Amino acid sequence: MKRQPLTIDILTLFPKMFQGVFTESLIGKAQEKGLVRIQVHDIRTQATDRHRTADDRPFGGGPGMVLKPDPVFRTFRTLGIPADPKRKRRSTVVYLSPQGRRLDQKLVEFLSARKHLVLLCGHYEGVDERLMDWVDLEVSVGDAVLTGGEIPAMALTDAVVRWRPGVVQDQDSLKWDSFAEGWSGLLDCPHYTRPQVWRDRKVPEVLLEGNHARIAQWRREMSMERTRRKRPDLLRAEKKKSEIK
Ligand SMILES: C[S@@+](CC[C@H](N)C(=O)[O-])C[C@H]1O[C@@H](n2cnc3c(N)ncnc32)[C@H](O)[C@@H]1O
Repeated sequence: MKRQPLTIDILTLFPKMFQGVFTESLIGKAQEKGLVRIQVHDIRTQATDRHRTADDRPFGGGPGMVLKPDPVFRTFRTLGIPADPKRKRRSTVVYLSPQGRRLDQKLVEFLSARKHLVLLCGHYEGVDERLMDWVDLEVSVGDAVLTGGEIPAMALTDAVVRWRPGVVQDQDSLKWDSFAEGWSGLLDCPHYTRPQVWRDRKVPEVLLEGNHARIAQWRREMSMERTRRKRPDLLRAEKKKSEIK
């Protein structure tokens, strides 16, 4: 049975930022193949005043501006999100926020299995807190503050779309990515391509010998070594998991 395409709706004050990113490479192809539908919505078009005001000064004073709740709410409504936030719905609303759960592969896999993702990009000081009643999940791309949620939304969309069946041609290759199940959560091994010798640097001999068992063993050892060196926290987490089992 053909799987329904994933729909991703992105709410932003800066829709032009998304041009290019979603028309190129794998994401562009995934849309052409009908595996995913991505739509970018300008929140400002749902503002009802003459000047299409979508942000305002914060109550209580202080610097910056805050995204007004009503234009965002109205955009939600155009996407079929019920006015009553307690009503059951098929959409998962994500607010990109430095205060959210850090994006990782597990979360990407969870989100890529949804039918409809609605990504809300904040800007300036953020969005009016009352909108959080409609938000299912806050997601951060790391412990640093960016200007807006647009780049985080692009990163999330890219990772989620890449994980949808059929998007990456060689589906098997995903298993061997960093953090994936093939390496039990380890980092990916190093990769090399032609020429065999480049600026006096040689490709490891084992990769040229055609012995697949030895290559697999070497790759596993390299993965282990670089995880130990670059991300020892992943090994500790894996050890903890196996102790719990
Ligand atoms: C300048 S930030 C506001 C930060 C907010 N005052 C705070 O400290 O939590 C503006 C917007 O950028 C987005 N943003 C910034 N950093 C982010 C991050 N690390 N991950 C995801 N979104 C982020 C959010 O949508 C946020 O509303």
